[in-house]
Amino acid sequence: MKIGVFCPIGNNGWLLSENAPQYMPTFELNKQIVQRAEHYGFDFALSMIKLRGFGGKTEFWDHNLETFTLMAGLAAVTSKIKIYATAATLVMAPAIVARMASTIDSISNGRFGLNVVTGWQAPEYSQMGMWPGDEYFAKRYEYLSEYVQILRELWATGQSDFKGEHFQMEDCRVSPLPQADMKIICAGQSDTGLEFSAQHADYNFVFGKGLNTPTAYADINDRLKHFTDQTGRDVQTYVLFMVIAAETDADALAKWQSYNDGADVEAINWLMNQGGKDTKSGTDTNIRQMASSVSPVNINMGTLVGSYEKVAAMLDEIAEIQGTEGILLTFDDFVQGIEDFGERIQPLMKSRQDAVAEYQSLSPLEKSA
Ligand SMILES: Cc1cc2nc3c(=O)[nH]c(=O)nc-3n(C[C@H](O)[C@H](O)[C@H](O)COP(=O)(O)O)c2cc1C
Repeated sequence: MKIGVFCPIGNNGWLLSENAPQYMPTFELNKQIVQRAEHYGFDFALSMIKLRGFGGKTEFWDHNLETFTLMAGLAAVTSKIKIYATAATLVMAPAIVARMASTIDSISNGRFGLNVVTGWQAPEYSQMGMWPGDEYFAKRYEYLSEYVQILRELWATGQSDFKGEHFQMEDCRVSPLPQADMKIICAGQSDTGLEFSAQHADYNFVFGKGLNTPTAYADINDRLKHFTDQTGRDVQTYVLFMVIAAETDADALAKWQSYNDGADVEAINWLMNQGGKDTKSGTDTNIRQMASSVSPVNINMGTLVGSYEKVAAMLDEIAEIQGTEGILLTFDDFVQGIEDFGERIQPLMKSRQDAVAEYQSLSPLEKSA
């Protein structure tokens, strides 16, 4: 089972609460988190792109770094962990993104990959005059499909003459080419999103569901398989969860309760309002579920709360789900959370014994580095 960290590129990570740790996103913070994640054998680090926050008392996500430049910096200060940035495809030309990806491939020695998103929150784009209108909701995966075909062509051959509805390339060039096979990930939850991933992506990220119900998301693997059966491609799921762990279940639950008690209602209301705007993508998008969530203090992210033993057991349960290849983690407190994961949780996980053995083979000096 692969493990990744979802970098806190926006302020306060993923908790919309006055009682959660309050912090700004900085390079130093993300460097510390990703270097420690690498130290404990995490497989990858991913950052999102977010161009507009939710406001409220905590100014939630009003402060966000930019993903490519952040990940380029992190690529330079790491050596093993895979690095993923997210392309805001509505506002970034594919030829520029292809070239930036080649550059970070060079910085990282072949450890870079790309998350592609269609965008779902109009104000992120309308604020710069670049929201194409709400009809885009229905077309966004067609647009992304053209986009990704261009990326793949440019990386494979250095040249593209692609002609589609949204893009017309004229002997477009990109060189140097990436040294490694460039992985493309997507996070489709709707049928169109899953169909896109089955056709074009290497992995598909999905939202975990519920509180301490680690396997509740599993039906989306079947939905994805329905589409991969048609395309004949092997595309596995990576599932997103927040870990809130402590010495005892009671201590961890007390933290979760406190975050809920301090919920930033104004920021949550803004999110709910935005989340409800896409009425064109079918009935099953997770954004809509966010909007109707009853406990949105962490954006209705699947949440694992408990003692280190309990969290390890729940993560092992996820590893048993057919079609799931990895887990993407957020923490209430990322710095402490990565240490707790490396020292207390991972050693108990059956599904991470390879990473544990590798860590144990380090010298005492390397372990304390
Ligand atoms: C791990 C993960 C990362 C995501 N990153 C972003 C992002 O950086 N920017 C964005 O606009 N949406 C992001 N999304 C939202 C997805 O791209 C997607 O729109 C959402 O999961 C709903 O699926 P659908 O597009 O099939 O409706 C992310 C979702 C997940 C699960």
